Amino acid sequence: MSSPSPIQAAPNILELLTKLHRISLEQEASISKTGKVFSSDVLGDLEDRQPTSDPKDKFDLLMLDKFIALDEDKCQFTYQLINAMGATNIVEAGTSFGVSTIYLALAIAKTKAATGKSGIVIATEKEKEKAAIARKYWAQCGPAVEEQIDLREGDLLETLKVGLPQVDLLLLDIWSALSLPTLKTVLPSLRPGAVVLTDNTISGAKGYADLLAYLRAPENGFQNMTLPFTNGFEMSVYRPQSV
Ligand SMILES: C[S@@+](CC[C@H](N)C(=O)[O-])C[C@H]1O[C@@H](n2cnc3c(N)ncnc32)[C@H](O)[C@@H]1O
Repeated sequence: MSSPSPIQAAPNILELLTKLHRISLEQEASISKTGKVFSSDVLGDLEDRQPTSDPKDKFDLLMLDKFIALDEDKCQFTYQLINAMGATNIVEAGTSFGVSTIYLALAIAKTKAATGKSGIVIATEKEKEKAAIARKYWAQCGPAVEEQIDLREGDLLETLKVGLPQVDLLLLDIWSALSLPTLKTVLPSLRPGAVVLTDNTISGAKGYADLLAYLRAPENGFQNMTLPFTNGFEMSVYRPQSV
């Protein structure tokens, strides 16, 4: 029998998370043949169906009301990892309606209370409508969650360029084509021993080819493992050679 969920939070927050994961899965099942959205596959399908219009614009429109939340077990693992690492500064690349962000906020709140360290979850979303809804869910959770988050609205390749603390963990839950540029933007702020988590690296391997090649090239200083969650979840530990 599996362990019960490790998440410690008020009942209203746990209920909200359960509800949001359910809606997210229902939405994904309705738009994807596999039941999960991989940006490169969906873009490819749109290209096949409407080769004359820009598939990227169509994709953004299709995703505007979609959660595409990180799977619940991956969220729970990330929460555990943050507590194990004593992590307090997190960057979340791709926030959407803020489901995974709630776990990140709960986890750093716990680590901050245990260690006395300061810290923040830097969340990122380019769609202002999605950002507004994320803020609404965080408000429903209350200050325990809301106060841990700095949501940067706009293109993350711009919003993450400045004002990053030393980052303990980067969650790449973003369209695959953006993942390597995002990593390179955050890289100067990653502390030695920082962890980069990337979603769907088995099923989305084609879209992530450049990111995975970069992470796995020994000279770039990452120690990688594909965790056997559904569709894969890459855990990369940053160990630059000089450290
Ligand atoms: C997979 S979803 C994130 C899901 C979220 N982590 C969760 O678990 O609830 C990816 C999000 O990244 C956003 N996004 C895409 N391109 C972006 C960019 N250049 N800058 C900021 N956000 C972007 C999309 O609008 C989408 O909402």
